[in-house]
Amino acid sequence: MKRIIINGGNTLKGTIKISGAKNSAVALVPASLLSDEKVTIDNIPNISDIDNLNEILKYLGASVERKEDRIIIDPTTIENKAIPEEAATKLRASYYFMGALLGKYKKATMYFPGGCPIGARPINLHLKGFEMMGAKIMQEQNKYTIIADELKGANIYLDMPSVGATINIMLAAVKANGTTTIDNAAKEPEIVNVATFLNNMGAKIRGAGTSTITIKGVKELHHAYTEVIPDRIEAGTYVIAGALIGNQLKIDNIIPEHIDSLLEKLKEMGADISVGVDNVIVSKTDRLNPINVTTLGYPGFPTDLQQPLTTLLTKCDGLSTVKETIYENRFCNAKYLNEMGANIKITDKKIYVNGPSELVGKEVIATDLRAGACLVLAGLVAKGTTTVKNVEHVLRGYENIIEKLNNVGANIKLDEI
Ligand code: EPZ
Repeated sequence: MKRIIINGGNTLKGTIKISGAKNSAVALVPASLLSDEKVTIDNIPNISDIDNLNEILKYLGASVERKEDRIIIDPTTIENKAIPEEAATKLRASYYFMGALLGKYKKATMYFPGGCPIGARPINLHLKGFEMMGAKIMQEQNKYTIIADELKGANIYLDMPSVGATINIMLAAVKANGTTTIDNAAKEPEIVNVATFLNNMGAKIRGAGTSTITIKGVKELHHAYTEVIPDRIEAGTYVIAGALIGNQLKIDNIIPEHIDSLLEKLKEMGADISVGVDNVIVSKTDRLNPINVTTLGYPGFPTDLQQPLTTLLTKCDGLSTVKETIYENRFCNAKYLNEMGANIKITDKKIYVNGPSELVGKEVIATDLRAGACLVLAGLVAKGTTTVKNVEHVLRGYENIIEKLNNVGANIKLDEI
């Protein structure tokens, strides 16, 4: 088991270059198999989620060539077969193979995806979209077989703007007969990244990034190139680190608009940030105002940043609140912050953070990816040594986190026990 050990208190100064977005890349890699020719994707982050998806592609018979942050995928040798449970349950994003295999071969067989334990995380909206396009779904325990004699364009309303369902339905619809409309679609930038890649292959997708996306089915998809957009959640996490203990910490190679909601909340707190064209420079301030945050789909405050932000809220003078509207179990980090000296009242949908608190290093556990990020941030600012266990969660979503933080002055190392 891997753990991260941090000796807190070091000021962070210098530049952190942000990597390609995990939540784009994990959709772009499965989407590649839709092409009838080779595809190339640049700025792929070097994280275990991508390795796991590449293993699935190779299992299916595709060739996958990785050169630094470039990946070249040749899907022409793929044969459609059931994706093994052990591979499918390693990460939630394996479910994008459902949409891609269904879209290309009209058949997909795989197991319910894995992912962080932050809630029930059903895939009913994905399956609803597939069925509305004419697919039949057979479920045996957590194995799904999805088959369609013909995939027809359909008008699909999403009961909630699900990121995964929006992307998965797009993948299934690009070669369907007729036009599919997704209403109440999610608007996250990662969706635009995937739609652009598919359009580069010759798909006819319009409206990605808005609530209504139309996909006009085409017969063939050809070679294509795309670049993964910068990871807005990684960027936000390091901006928060700078507000905690930075001195002109530069978070570089980002699209600031993608973290507008965070930057606005930090300004409301009185944080010292300056926003450039493709970077943010942030420093610690003596005092911070408390704030109230409610998580929402894009462009609202992202649920993936509420846990990292909670560490900063422990430093605010007064009572801050975080209301989580996307997941039902995303406060597992708070009890560990309390063990480190925070004063957080936890209810099922909302937490109440009284500050400011002095955090003291402890042995804590990463229960999920962003909870782990929250605890790493806490270790950076806590007195003494913090050990974060189960950090495989963190390494899945933050490329070279140890190196990036050491390069700006943190005292942090990865340990295997
Ligand atoms: C994506 O998950 C991200 N993961 C999540 O990031 C992110 O938190 C989430 O979008 C919301 O922004 C990836 O992109 C790989 P959803 P996804 O479908 O697609 C419910 C991280 O830390 N729902 O938008 O699974 C679901 O239970 C991860 O990087 C249904 O009810 O999120 C949840 O409560 C964590 N039925 C809500 O919608 C469905 O069919 C949002 O889910 C699908 C979802």
